Amino acid sequence: MAGLDPTSLSSPDDCRTHHLYLRCRVDFERRSLRGTVALTVRAERDLLRCLVLDTKDLTIHNVTADRQEAKFTLGERQSYKGSPLEITLPFELRKGQDAIIEISFETSPRSSALQWFSPEQTSGKRHPFLFSQCQANHCRSLLPCQDTPSVKLTYYAEISVPSELVALMSANRDGDLPDPEDCTRKIYRFYQNVPIPSYLIALVVGALVSRELGPRSLVWAEEELVEKSAYEFAQTEAMLKIAEDLAGPYVWGQYDLLVLPPSFPYGGMENPCLTFVTPTLLAGDRSLSSVIAHEISHSWTGNLVTNKTWEHFWLNEGHTVYLERRIGGRLFGEQFRHFQALGGWRELQNSINTFGSTNPLTHLIPSLKDVDPDVAYSSVPYEKGFALLFYLEQLLGGPDVFIEFLKAYIQQFAYKSIVTEDWKNFLYSYFTYKTDILDTVDWNAWFNTPGMPPVKPTYDMTLANACIDLSQRWIKATENDLGSFNSADLKDFSSHQVIEFLALLLLADPLPVSHVRKMREAYNFNAFNNSEIRFRWLRLCLQAEWEDAIPLALQMATKQGRLKFTRPLFKDLYKFEKSRDQAVAAFHQHQASMHPVTAMLVAKDLGIGGQTA
Ligand code: BES
Ligand code: ZN
Repeated sequence: MAGLDPTSLSSPDDCRTHHLYLRCRVDFERRSLRGTVALTVRAERDLLRCLVLDTKDLTIHNVTADRQEAKFTLGERQSYKGSPLEITLPFELRKGQDAIIEISFETSPRSSALQWFSPEQTSGKRHPFLFSQCQANHCRSLLPCQDTPSVKLTYYAEISVPSELVALMSANRDGDLPDPEDCTRKIYRFYQNVPIPSYLIALVVGALVSRELGPRSLVWAEEELVEKSAYEFAQTEAMLKIAEDLAGPYVWGQYDLLVLPPSFPYGGMENPCLTFVTPTLLAGDRSLSSVIAHEISHSWTGNLVTNKTWEHFWLNEGHTVYLERRIGGRLFGEQFRHFQALGGWRELQNSINTFGSTNPLTHLIPSLKDVDPDVAYSSVPYEKGFALLFYLEQLLGGPDVFIEFLKAYIQQFAYKSIVTEDWKNFLYSYFTYKTDILDTVDWNAWFNTPGMPPVKPTYDMTLANACIDLSQRWIKATENDLGSFNSADLKDFSSHQVIEFLALLLLADPLPVSHVRKMREAYNFNAFNNSEIRFRWLRLCLQAEWEDAIPLALQMATKQGRLKFTRPLFKDLYKFEKSRDQAVAAFHQHQASMHPVTAMLVAKDLGIGGQTA
């Protein structure tokens, strides 16, 4: 059935949560959150007596409905989906009636939504740290809820933490006060008055400080990184203004950034009012700021207009990549936008090569029945989704025409959760006079077939040609030609072009060791600290089976935990016979201090069973 969420065990057809009130205590000794959550639910049908919530690794102590004791049972665990919490109401609800369901609960130290750090694992070494990552379906291991993006709710929260620490959430700050129950603690309060899906609930606790980035933006980090972060993300307000011009008013109030410890599994996460980012963006030259443009863009596509289920994830990510690249186009020119777009096509090719061109997970709309969204995660929804929108832009009259459609789409579906059919129907109704053109699109091939898209959009090649030419020179070079390479080859390259050059080489057959040895000498790549460059360079060396790269690759795979880097590095190390045992040993050595989702996925990649996030 369209719109039914296969990854949630809750029952949004029976009732829907409109508001959530969380009160809890963050306990670093027990590594748990303990408290109560009060859900305001509204019946969607008559004679409602029973409802089901999602939970995962939670202990449930007590449930009340409108302050009366309610019976509950925690069902059997269904792998990554967790355990259904079935609640029987002590009364009956009629359609449209509200009830407040209050649940007292405690999280597990193994909660897949949380990573706990001892003081030694932080930059400052003096205080513990905690962060959450709920997308795609980990909110259920933070608190009991309807953990499906088809349900949107506002929230209020009161979080008790040790006084020397700061708590932040995906919400506006509402001050702090001494904890009346414990004089060593403070309570931080938050409100999110825009309805959001559960996956956007987020919490961080640590020794955090902030610097101002703009009139509505602070950057938060541990003291050691805050200055560098303020420099790196100085374009934030400029990007917000461009995004508002492209997509409409920014409705969330504050737009802050938070720089997490290196194990944060993503480049960025669009938590409302407080984007979470990896410290691997701190290149020192602002060159990785497209991730910020991306997360800013989610303030419209994803956070206002939300995919109803994870099968329609491309609606979130494809549109967001489209807006991200429009922001890049405004800042750095249309040629740059086309260069990024072509890089995306190449990235899509990469993913489809990895998955195999008949793999059903390469559908734009994959079936996720019994598939963990974390396992299905890839560039496909991002780049196949972007390619479709870029193709439509060209088909329907260009960037100016298409951005007006996008604006109207956002206005039409803001505060709602939708499926691809809703998007397509709106597209046809918006372009009423161009339905003949729209009918030339092979929708079924785009949506429901594996592999590369049925058509390739047109790309301006100005900035890409230098990358293609240089990569071809290396691919074609014999041993005798190696003398012709030197640092002047990269003289006019931006760091984006260096990244693209390496990415093109990674798509080709492995180079001989003599070539990568010469490349290190000519271009001094070992000295690059830009994470995107270093990552591709080390992969290139491993694929060439150059032993010298093993310690460097092991280091990068374990010293940071961004899935985009850590998984391919571990995979390449595992594939190379000379580093295989070291890869497995390194995983076992670091497993306990890895993010739970990263540990689960790397274990899978290395063929090590038994781990579940
Ligand atoms: N929302 C995603 C991150 C995410 C997706 C977390 C699915 C968990 C499940 C975020 O907006 C994102 O796309 N991040 C990218 C940034 C890139 C495309 C610029 C990343 O982390 O690499
Ligand atoms: Zn995204």
